[in-house]
Amino acid sequence: MSSALTTKTLSPNPNPLKQFESWFKEATKLGISIPEAMTLATVSSDGTPDARIVLLKKISKTGLEFFTNYKSPKGQHLNSNPKACCIFFWEPLARQVRIRGVVQKLSDSESDTYFQSRPRGSQIGAWCSPQSEKVPDRDVLETRFKELERQYENQEIPRPPHWGGYLLKPTYFEFWQGQDNRLHDRFAYELQPDGNWEISRLAP
Ligand SMILES: Cc1cc2nc3c(=O)[nH]c(=O)nc-3n(C[C@H](O)[C@H](O)[C@H](O)COP(=O)(O)O)c2cc1C
Repeated sequence: MSSALTTKTLSPNPNPLKQFESWFKEATKLGISIPEAMTLATVSSDGTPDARIVLLKKISKTGLEFFTNYKSPKGQHLNSNPKACCIFFWEPLARQVRIRGVVQKLSDSESDTYFQSRPRGSQIGAWCSPQSEKVPDRDVLETRFKELERQYENQEIPRPPHWGGYLLKPTYFEFWQGQDNRLHDRFAYELQPDGNWEISRLAP
C-alpha cells in the first residue's frame, strides 16, 4: 500500500449513500478498471449462499440499481428471498464497501428505459440467452442471435419480460479504508427504525 493512500483519514458523511457516491466518484476519477463491478451475494430458498459479479448501473436516492435475467439463479434467489449483499473492492484506493439490504424489481418502465439505452447487440443477447441454463454448444446461441437479428431488422427491440432491473435498498453499509499496521478504518452504518443511520467505528 502506498503511503499517500494509507495516510488518508476517513470522516464519514452522515448519509451513507452520499459517502458511497463520493468514494465511487473517486474510484471512477482514478481510472480504476470497472469501478462499478460489484460482487452480489444472494441466498437460495434452501439457504445456500451464492455470489457473482454484476454491474452497478445507477446510484439513486433510495439505493443501487443493477440489471439481470429475472429467471437466472440470482433472480430466483431474489424472488424467494429478496435480500442481498454487495461488495465493491477498489484496490488502488485500498477501499472496500459492503452493503446489505432488501431488493425489489424496478418498474417495467424503468427497465424499458434502461433496456432501450443498451447497444442493439446486448438487447438481442438478452433475448437469446437463457442465463445460467445448460446449452449444448455455442452454435445454439449464435444461430438464435442471427435469427433474432433478422426478426427485428429495422425494428425497435422490446425488452424481454424475463430481463430487467433491481433496486437494492440498503439497510447496512460498511466502509473499509486500508491503513498502516493493519489498523484499518472501518465505519458501519445501521438503518434505525426511525429512518436515521447509526454510525459506529469497527475494529479492523
Ligand atoms: C465484469 C462482469 C460484469 C458482469 N455484469 C453482469 C450484469 O450486470 N448482469 C448480469 O446478469 N450478469 C453480469 N455478469 C455475469 C454474472 O457474473 C453471472 O455469470 C451471471 O449473471 C449468472 O449469474 P447467476 O447464475 O448467479 O444468476 C458479469 C460478469 C462480469 C465478470
